[in-house]
Amino acid sequence: MNNPVVAVVGCGRIARDAHFPAFEKIGNVRVKYACDLIEEKAQIMKDKYAFVENVITDYKIALADPEVEVVFVLTPNFAHYTVTMDALRAGKHVMCEKPVTVSYDLSVEMAEEAKKQGKILNIGVCNRYQASVVKLEEMIRNGEFGNLYHVVCSFRACRSIPGLGGAFTTKSQSGGGVLIDWGIHFLDLILYILGGAKLKTLTCDAYSEIGKDMKSYKYKSMWAEDTADVENGTNDVDDFICGHVRTDKASITFNGAWAQNLDKGEMYVDFLGDKKGARLTYCKQFELFDGETLETVNTDHELPNFYQLEDADFFKSIRTGEKNRNNIDNILESMKLLDYLYKSAEEKREIAL
Ligand SMILES: NC(=O)c1ccc[n+]([C@@H]2O[C@H](COP(=O)([O-])OP(=O)(O)OC[C@H]3O[C@@H](n4cnc5c(N)ncnc54)[C@H](O)[C@@H]3O)[C@@H](O)[C@H]2O)c1
Repeated sequence: MNNPVVAVVGCGRIARDAHFPAFEKIGNVRVKYACDLIEEKAQIMKDKYAFVENVITDYKIALADPEVEVVFVLTPNFAHYTVTMDALRAGKHVMCEKPVTVSYDLSVEMAEEAKKQGKILNIGVCNRYQASVVKLEEMIRNGEFGNLYHVVCSFRACRSIPGLGGAFTTKSQSGGGVLIDWGIHFLDLILYILGGAKLKTLTCDAYSEIGKDMKSYKYKSMWAEDTADVENGTNDVDDFICGHVRTDKASITFNGAWAQNLDKGEMYVDFLGDKKGARLTYCKQFELFDGETLETVNTDHELPNFYQLEDADFFKSIRTGEKNRNNIDNILESMKLLDYLYKSAEEKREIAL
């Protein structure tokens, strides 16, 4: 079965590090257009991969081409909405990077447009394809944890504000800071592993302390530094976040930091059941604690490339018409969660949904 003909819009980090290498591994993928506003970035992909056919700077050229079946939207968050809506209306299937876009309302519109056009719209919550996440989800679904009553989640780094002053730290372009950028990965996979948990109540606090004075911000390295603009840019997003969520399954406490005055990189999710518990070391392995034997078992999963699995399953979904785990319909609850956490932080109160 041939893979669909692809156009890639946005040839930055996630295109370069994840999706183009995934296409190469999947094999038999034609990227008819690599598109970026900065032509050289698309050209670099064409120079590297023989399967890239054309370089463009205006994605509408790709949308007008009837041979293109699929558009990968790999732009900054705010552009996800416009490019995805245009692509769906042009009759293309879309794989759009996470988060869906900058707000829940716009995410719902995107889901409705996909339904109206009868097209598949998937979102790049790639961790749902991690081997450890797949295994944990299966064990919990099979009742092996007993009553899974609580989840503790931490996604904290010491100094990791991306591209300070650029798109990542400008709320109108990103939708928020560490919560929407890293939190979407963690909180989405918790709702997913819990079996599609539905929200009941939540409360959240958000801070922007470490990067508030952009010019005096100290760091050892800055990812997305090419997008930084500490002289004239904006930083109006959260660099620390914490909260508590009640769902119809388990309750969840979480904290996350792009930056903090502690050199502790804490990236884990603890699942606490009355029979078993597990610490998922962010999407790598998990250790399993058995409440009967009081033994801890370290899992040792093979770690296949999850972007490859994600993209291959998207291509399969297009061919079969079956919505898979990363379909927009299965991500909206996570977007709702982010929106209401920001609302709770802004209004400094608990919210019932
Ligand atoms: N799934 C993951 O693990 C993961 C990891 C990193 C980033 N992401 C997501 O991927 C997206 C991109 O992040 P990134 O780090 O690659 O950013 P980036 O800034 O490196 O790349 C974005 C590219 O999009 C281009 N672009 C912007 N608007 C465009 C338009 N209208 N037409 C064509 N090109 C356009 C920019 O010129 C830039 O080259 C973000 O939404 C981010 O949240 C996901």
